[in-house]
Amino acid sequence: MYNRMTRFLILTLILFSAVSISVKAQLIKPVYLDETRPVEERVKNALSLMTLEEKVALCHAQSKFSSKGVARLGIPEVWMSDGPHGVRAEILWDSWGYAQWTNDSCTAFPALTCLAATWNPEMSAIYGKAVGEEARYRNKTVLLGPGVNIYRTPMNGRNFEYMGEDPYLASVMVVPYIQEVQKNGVAACVKHFALNNQENWRGHINVELSDRALREIYLPAFKAAVTEGKVWSVMGSYNQFRGEYCCHNDLLLNKILKGEWKFDGTVITDWGGAHETKQAALNGLDIEMGTGTDGMTRSLKNAYDNYYLALPFLDELKKGSIPESVVNDKASRVLRMIFRTTMNSKRPYGSLATPEHAQVARKIAEDGIVLLKNDGSILPLDASKLNKIAVIGENATRKMSEGGGSSELKPRVEISPLKALQSKYGSKITYARGYASGPPAYGRAIPSKLNADSLRNEAVKIAESADMVIFVGGLNKNHNQDCEGGDRKSYNLPFGQDKLISEILKVNKNIVVVLVSGNAVAMPWVDKVPAIVQAWHLGSEAGNAITSVLSGEVNPSGKLPFTFPKQLSDCGAHSFDKLCFPGDSIREVYKEDILVGYRWYDTKAIPVQFHFGFGLSYTTFTLSKPTTDKTDYAKTETVKMTFSVQNTGKVAGSEVAQIYITQENAPIMRPAKELKGFKKILLKAGVKKSVTIPVKVQDMAYWDEKTSNWKVDPGKYTLSLGTSAGDIQYLGSVQVK
Ligand code: GLC
Repeated sequence: MYNRMTRFLILTLILFSAVSISVKAQLIKPVYLDETRPVEERVKNALSLMTLEEKVALCHAQSKFSSKGVARLGIPEVWMSDGPHGVRAEILWDSWGYAQWTNDSCTAFPALTCLAATWNPEMSAIYGKAVGEEARYRNKTVLLGPGVNIYRTPMNGRNFEYMGEDPYLASVMVVPYIQEVQKNGVAACVKHFALNNQENWRGHINVELSDRALREIYLPAFKAAVTEGKVWSVMGSYNQFRGEYCCHNDLLLNKILKGEWKFDGTVITDWGGAHETKQAALNGLDIEMGTGTDGMTRSLKNAYDNYYLALPFLDELKKGSIPESVVNDKASRVLRMIFRTTMNSKRPYGSLATPEHAQVARKIAEDGIVLLKNDGSILPLDASKLNKIAVIGENATRKMSEGGGSSELKPRVEISPLKALQSKYGSKITYARGYASGPPAYGRAIPSKLNADSLRNEAVKIAESADMVIFVGGLNKNHNQDCEGGDRKSYNLPFGQDKLISEILKVNKNIVVVLVSGNAVAMPWVDKVPAIVQAWHLGSEAGNAITSVLSGEVNPSGKLPFTFPKQLSDCGAHSFDKLCFPGDSIREVYKEDILVGYRWYDTKAIPVQFHFGFGLSYTTFTLSKPTTDKTDYAKTETVKMTFSVQNTGKVAGSEVAQIYITQENAPIMRPAKELKGFKKILLKAGVKKSVTIPVKVQDMAYWDEKTSNWKVDPGKYTLSLGTSAGDIQYLGSVQVK
């Protein structure tokens, strides 16, 4: 009896106290923890509870890739990770070294040049979803990507990480990636804002250019990321713009990004991009990462307190020389990012290196590979007619996820072209390395010790006795190739590949050149090689994607996101002087102005090797004459251009219809044409489909430097419909009132 009664009383007591605690907790749950309240209220409430020291602590690194939260209030710290193509392996607390974890292998997705080459926003959406799931699973608050710096010169070491030479293509393709990453409760971080279009002297070069070039070419993709993608963070670039570092640049960050574009997220430096406390405080920077203050970069002692936005910032605030409103704005932005990510209890859990993600990587790769040449339909390979296929080239086996700088990954799987070709064609395949490039080493190129002649002779030998040669070359992720921290030294293929290809051609004309790269290259052999495939850096599924295209399992549908000039001197940035590129080591003036990429070649009538927007298929397509829904448009309206596309070949395939606009009799210099609409259409053999592409009249505007605003002149505009910048099939024209 006694026991039963006692037990009952104890139970009741426990129950009562549990209920009362939870009621009390409910009653006194602070607003910032209450997810039923709007984020802005939660931000204000959290801020009101924080000390000045806690606010300052939110504004700078606590480790190589993390910054503080507010532990006392249960607000978690911010963890950031590269990169745009996948979640980088864990880095040590206080140095660039890897932490050697064994549970952080990821899926390596194709480089963003490949994503751009799909011309397919659906690919951007599945990309963002998958890479966002991996970043979420790895508990990252911020994924340091995507990069959208414009492809100004083929020499830029980091072009492979970006989305090509056209602001409209990059603006369309960047948005779904960001939206889908952020649905995982991970902040995307669009980078590098702005004008980081080369690696040479990137840490300080002072870029100068016209307002038109800034607005019409270099900012649009960032503007789309912010105003349409609603990106939660932006990374400032290392370089200067008009004499101010971009990581604390009043015009870029305060006036344009946070003013005009109403960006409510967090500006994060590139690692080491901050240079001065007051500027960092007053010119729009929110979180300072990777700084080497007072030469303490290499000290083992925690130098984070000496960051510009650390104790020096706190001192200025305490002295009152910087108003507390400045740190309140920064802290609010960081808190807002935290509430949107790690403190959103409804965010999904993510997943890492799953078969589903491998499929996404493969789908994007297959959709982005570009068939540049296919004389005599040598492709797709007909295995029944081929007994011996010689695969030649180091890129057939090289791990491309290694090296390249901060976008480097540790994939769970990386299927090489040779592996996939061997599993498809078995003993028909023979292999020779053909050339050697040396190991990926950050900041310096280490030549291979292997003998180039013997490598070449061995390759020519297997080529001689083969029915078909598949040459897999291109660039790689070594320094001065497709790699951060340096630019290319030549427009030609490196490591003796041109000579090797010409030697192979002497013994075997049946050669397919597969280029694994993120940049245009010179092709002295272009007329002698029957087939050329631009295969990008494709990540974990590289070999499978390349093999499915070569075998015809997949019909290639990629289109170039940048032009391949015949020679470097044809390129706008290389048509002036050193000051124009690479600069005089202090400043650089973009003298080609708005004529970047095809805008230059078209306007100057310079023939090119392969046009922007170009890509072949294993089938053929025809477009019909287009019509527009009206002939006269108000500036706020949208032109709807309608036409049909027919697949006139024997296999299903996709075509990308492109619309370029030209202002007739413009009062100022405008490019010959500008991409302002496109659509990728998948069609079964023989099928014809009606397609309508909208072109906003507002998108036909130019930046009027007199009024510092966008301007659409009334008058006649030509709409060019085609399947590349070099293949315009119909012209339509409209009047803007
Ligand atoms: C690097 C890169 C940037 C990267 C960051 C962190 O210098 O410029 O893209 O996200 O530092 O690795």
